[in-house]
Amino acid sequence: MKKIYKFPEGFWWGSASSAEQSEGKGNTGKGKTIWDHWFEIEKNRFFDEVGPDVTSDFFNRYKEDIKLMKSLSHNSFRMSLSWARLFPNGDGEVNEKAVEFYNNVINTFIDNDVKPFVNLYHFDMPMAMQEKGGWESKEVVEAYANYADTCFELFGDRIEYWFTFNEPLGPVLGGYMQDFHYPNIIDFKRAAQVAFNTILAHAKAVEKFKKHNLKSKIGIILNLSPTYPRSSNKCDVEAARICDLFYNRSFLDPCVKGSFPKKLVDILKKYEQMPVYTQEDIETIKENTAQILGINYYEPRRAKAKENVVNPNSPFMPEWLFDPYILPGRKFNPYRGWEIYEKGILDLCNDVKENYGNIEGFISENGMGVADEARFIENGQINDKYRIEFIKGHLKYIHKAIEEGCNIKGYHLWTFIDCWSWMNAYKNRYGLVSLDLLTQKRTVKKSGEFYKLLSENNGFEE
Ligand code: NOJ
Repeated sequence: MKKIYKFPEGFWWGSASSAEQSEGKGNTGKGKTIWDHWFEIEKNRFFDEVGPDVTSDFFNRYKEDIKLMKSLSHNSFRMSLSWARLFPNGDGEVNEKAVEFYNNVINTFIDNDVKPFVNLYHFDMPMAMQEKGGWESKEVVEAYANYADTCFELFGDRIEYWFTFNEPLGPVLGGYMQDFHYPNIIDFKRAAQVAFNTILAHAKAVEKFKKHNLKSKIGIILNLSPTYPRSSNKCDVEAARICDLFYNRSFLDPCVKGSFPKKLVDILKKYEQMPVYTQEDIETIKENTAQILGINYYEPRRAKAKENVVNPNSPFMPEWLFDPYILPGRKFNPYRGWEIYEKGILDLCNDVKENYGNIEGFISENGMGVADEARFIENGQINDKYRIEFIKGHLKYIHKAIEEGCNIKGYHLWTFIDCWSWMNAYKNRYGLVSLDLLTQKRTVKKSGEFYKLLSENNGFEE
């Protein structure tokens, strides 16, 4: 028998993207970001040596792109503002041409009845700010708070949902622990400082936001992975708990509850990895928590007890305390190497319900990156059945989460039009709409048609 998966009325159906990954440089006099800089000095680190200069040219094509979203029945979309576009030096005077561009974009969304959700920071540190120390510097935290404040002032009257950061863990891991973002440093103590200062910057932006007395809400978007132990052996359970503290609770607790997990702090103290902070910073974090939570879910994390003794001469890493575990027989996406575990989304939502006051939330990203999608072209259109299955598989569990009382208001797919994916550039495609990189031609994929019906029917049948 067929089952109908209907979602609550007013459910947000849409997708998400970011400035650096879709806009291209444009002609507003955008300042360089760390991505522009890194690409300039190390092109070889980017797939096919494609950099962030043009990407999907949203800067010039936003009108058609937003119309296309409307025609695929999106009711909402998450974009990000580029700090380096609005403030080419990171601070100082706001760039009026950039203000005009974003006013036009926001107004076009509103005219098309697609609600813009606006994120302030998506991995795109202005290079001028990185030169001042990036997130290691308190001066940069202040400049970010000022940038956020300016955005609330300029665009606050038209935006219902604001987000301070997207996946703040990304730059910590990539930039300071695992070498996949600039500045390519390997140093956990500095990573901890970057994480702390990002959390402080989030809180300072929330503090500024509240002063504007807007009717809208502000939150944060976190990439969360439910963390499972290899077995019920107590050593594995403890390993998974520590892994979870480092990679989920480190941001979730301070951003939603206003405090850091004690056990995590104890571990950092024991290994002499604590960041520098003041009591005032702790108060700011406590008083300015998120009002809405975006959950990016792609894959679960699995951990087991360490099998080998740690090399004491290697730099400290969370993995000194557990080993990652790869589930034999797992379903996975070979292009990204990520496990696909649909039920993980239910476990995450229930975790937020039970341990984080059931804060208003939504799935702000979920999606599947696939390489060489041209091989699936049938009659001029990519027939991406796998993506439709992926979406449905996750939606079934989101539906269940809502039935179980989770406060989940919407689902945004990553992404609308294939976009530039950092070091992977255009290798893996995630869009509902394909992009021909040479001509910039957009073509709706099968998943785009499916998504349109999904939104119009507020659910699906299977
Ligand atoms: C999460 C990030 O927010 C986004 O920038 C990225 O492209 C997608 N994941 C896909 O990897």
